Amino acid sequence: MKINKIKGFADLFVPESSTFTFMENKARSIFSSYGFTELRTPILEYTELFKRSIGEETDVVHKEMYTFSDEKGRSYSLRPEATAGVMRAFIENSIFNKESVSKLFTTGPMFRHERPQKGRFRQFHQINCECLGADSPFCDAELICMLMFFLNNIGIKNTQLQINSLGCPKCRPVFIDNLKQYLKQVSQEDLCSDCQRRMETNPLRVFDCKQEKCKEIVKSAPQISAFLCQDCKEHFDVVLELLQQQNVPYILNPLLVRGLDYYCRTTFEVVSGEIGAQSAIAGGGRYDGLVAMLGGPEIPGIGFACGLERLALLLPEQTQQGLDFYLLALCPEAQKPGFSLAEELRGLGYHGLMNYTLAGFKSSMRQANKSGAKYCLILGSDELARAEIGLKNMQDGTQEQVKLADVVPFFQQHIAATGN
Ligand code: HAM
Repeated sequence: MKINKIKGFADLFVPESSTFTFMENKARSIFSSYGFTELRTPILEYTELFKRSIGEETDVVHKEMYTFSDEKGRSYSLRPEATAGVMRAFIENSIFNKESVSKLFTTGPMFRHERPQKGRFRQFHQINCECLGADSPFCDAELICMLMFFLNNIGIKNTQLQINSLGCPKCRPVFIDNLKQYLKQVSQEDLCSDCQRRMETNPLRVFDCKQEKCKEIVKSAPQISAFLCQDCKEHFDVVLELLQQQNVPYILNPLLVRGLDYYCRTTFEVVSGEIGAQSAIAGGGRYDGLVAMLGGPEIPGIGFACGLERLALLLPEQTQQGLDFYLLALCPEAQKPGFSLAEELRGLGYHGLMNYTLAGFKSSMRQANKSGAKYCLILGSDELARAEIGLKNMQDGTQEQVKLADVVPFFQQHIAATGN
């Protein structure tokens, strides 16, 4: 019986895989120009890490993690996002002792057991950046500018940057108290059962609720902006001023709280109106208490992640790098010298294929044509006897015989090496 892939998981062939590679390469290059270095963390972590950092009341931890236990009863989860793992690695490896500001970039698959739909998968890919060690609003603005630069650079247009401040442990409790009071006044039947619970355990999460009746209630709820302390207000004002200075358009969204518990102060999302309901293509924010909460020193941080599947919906298909040659051996004696020539050309940076099995001339030429290679190198017994090779230009159909020893110089003169 045939075994199929799991629902919500995808196989990425060309051109999707080329689009992913294109985005990852651009990200690597742009982020490194801001001093980011790449970190690869495990896909599997102890469940506790996600519970403590993302928060037990969040949908991500409460409903969406792939969790299982081993024979000793230890609970593991597939990472639903990258930030928690990056924090663990940062603390475990005492990176803070080596540098005062760490800028870490990571990319790879994440796993959330959500209902699959357009732009929403159970295995999806993120490009993720975290900047640790700086609490300056310049750091927030720089990170947002870098994200917008990256999106523009890969060709993503017509996006909207939404931004909010979630305050700090000094001012947020007053807001939460007010929010609780407001929610208590609302008729309890008007809140979904999840929100009735959240109201007590983590009232901010009511803002993430997808139920229409809860969304309506949230619209008239108190807003954090009215409760920001002087420090948070000043911090946020500088971030906004820097974005204006750099001509990065944004809109203030006082309802933007983000679905993960670790955020404080600046939070942001980039949305697109062109990909349907799952419109957030990137999101992030500041999380100053997170490192300490996970057992590290008091170190501030801010970061974001982009969803590659959603970005890919907005990009044209990337064309795969074309082939330079197709080496066609026509007889058994031509296979070994042909093999050496193909290896030599690849070693010089040319891209090419050779035929593994011998077939008739016509069907072999059909294969060569299908490969899309610029040149077909034809090696039969006549050519071998004269130490020559047939060099067919597949674009204009012309063919000439050249000395075997002249093939490499011909390529070097006429074709720019695409690889290496
Ligand atoms: P997030 O908003 O949960 O944030 O996810 C970031 C992005 O990942 C979303 O904007 C979306 O593009 C993509 N995404 C999320 N879930 C799915 C899904 N099921 N299918 C496809 N794409 C999805 C975080 O994950 C934070 N860790 C970001 C961050 C980094 N904050 C600070 N540092």
